[in-house]
Amino acid sequence: MGAMSDARPLLVFDSGVGGLSVLGPIERLLPNAPIVYVADSAGFPYGTKSEAEIAARVPALLGRLVERYRPRLVVIACNTASTIALAHVRAALDLPVVGTVPAIKPAAAMSKARVIGVLGTEATVRQRYVDNLSAEFAADCLVLRHGSARLVELAEMKLRGQPTPAADFAHALAGLTDLEGGSRMDTVVLACTHFPLVGEELAAASPRPLAFVHGGDGIARRVAHLTQGQSWPEAPTSGIAVFTALGAGEKALAPALARFGLHRIEAL
Ligand code: DGL
Repeated sequence: MGAMSDARPLLVFDSGVGGLSVLGPIERLLPNAPIVYVADSAGFPYGTKSEAEIAARVPALLGRLVERYRPRLVVIACNTASTIALAHVRAALDLPVVGTVPAIKPAAAMSKARVIGVLGTEATVRQRYVDNLSAEFAADCLVLRHGSARLVELAEMKLRGQPTPAADFAHALAGLTDLEGGSRMDTVVLACTHFPLVGEELAAASPRPLAFVHGGDGIARRVAHLTQGQSWPEAPTSGIAVFTALGAGEKALAPALARFGLHRIEAL
């Protein structure tokens, strides 16, 4: 037998299915990485919760998850949890933690009009973290923000195989384009991991061509970099989807989860 392969998983965490938009790029770069995907369905949605609730809930939950699944690295595949609780989680856990923050830097690098939109949850778009990213990377841009809880629901519905009304996507985009300066906006940051899952629907509902930017590929590269030189199983292994509340709604996600190699579903 050759060197022992390392079966410790990557733990990818979100409130719901949004983290799958980060998991996809990770799996493309690291196809043999064992995956534990966690959706905090008992705490969903995060975007309408207070900072205090998120800051208390996420580090405690991740502490339990790390004890149970012994991952080599944690990805917080959620902008809301990352912009509020990343520092608390890093302080609480003794392993590498990769967060997801709004992709304002690449969006600012792309925008010709110098007007970018940040479409996230209500909690994310009000964070100081977004002020800081805007000041650091988009100081010469007008940065518009809009929070949409409906888009989060639409992504959850789509992955359960339910129909999603086109008008709802148009309405979410209008939250940005109707703001002062919004008619010049050419680039939109999908600052919630649920939103790339409905990227096609958003693009189809847009009154004019807009560039949509998100952080999935950058996060995958970061995970690959942090695990460089580590060993992995020799072939892809079946992943696990863990829900903090497991009912019929979560079980309806099985076909979508299977498309990401998550063939086992369990409750925490
Ligand atoms: N997917 C999450 C994010 O990136 C939040 C969705 C929610 O629970 O509101 O912000």
